[in-house]
Amino acid sequence: MEIFLKKGSELSIDELAQIKDAIFREFKVPFQIADQSPDRLFFLLKQENKILSMGALWEVKPVSFEGEEFSFFGVLNVVANEKGKGHGRQVVEAMRKYALAHNKTAFGFCMPKNKGFYAKCGFQIEENSTQRFVYAKGTERITNKDGQIIFYQESSDNFMKKVLAQPEKEVSIPTEKLW
Ligand SMILES: CC(C)(COP(=O)(O)OP(=O)(O)OC[C@H]1O[C@@H](n2cnc3c(N)ncnc32)[C@H](O)[C@@H]1OP(=O)(O)O)[C@@H](O)C(=O)NCCC(=O)NCCS
Repeated sequence: MEIFLKKGSELSIDELAQIKDAIFREFKVPFQIADQSPDRLFFLLKQENKILSMGALWEVKPVSFEGEEFSFFGVLNVVANEKGKGHGRQVVEAMRKYALAHNKTAFGFCMPKNKGFYAKCGFQIEENSTQRFVYAKGTERITNKDGQIIFYQESSDNFMKKVLAQPEKEVSIPTEKLW
């Protein structure tokens, strides 16, 4: 068993096929061309050719809060193909450690039922701030509709500390692909 780091653009046809299957099975959404771009870094726990679990980091920027711009690693596409064997934890801890080594905030949205998993992987959990993250699409104001919560690991820019210190203020994010 070994973890491989690969850009979205470097995934093999066989890896892509397994990733597409897993994403559609778990999230009922197609895995798209944009998900295979070089700015996505996939973490694949593999045994020979089989992907046991996976996740991806995506540098999200600019994230604006109170006149200051930030960037963070969005955590995406986390799936363990067989649950309960520690495989999910192995990739998610590797992703968290990668963000730590690069001094970049790691940030993701998850359903509340998964919060214990992310907490065990070393993330902080924030349950009351999701609606403050807003994606402005033209004049439309898009927020999360699924009741997701936030898991994160801070970096030296203190992004989440600043966000949590001013609970009445919104955070502007450049995408709706984080939830
Ligand atoms: C969430 C998911 C990735 C977890 O992967 P997994 O391989 O089953 O989890 P692990 O076996 O690595 O679990 C690690 C630890 O977290 C715990 N854990 C796992 N899922 C949990 C949950 N939903 N709630 C609380 N604890 C959980 C395990 O008990 C284990 O604890 P332990 O080390 O004390 O024994 C997996 O269930 C999955 O693929 N779910 C469907 C897709 C999904 O929802 N992904 C998350 C998108 S945000």
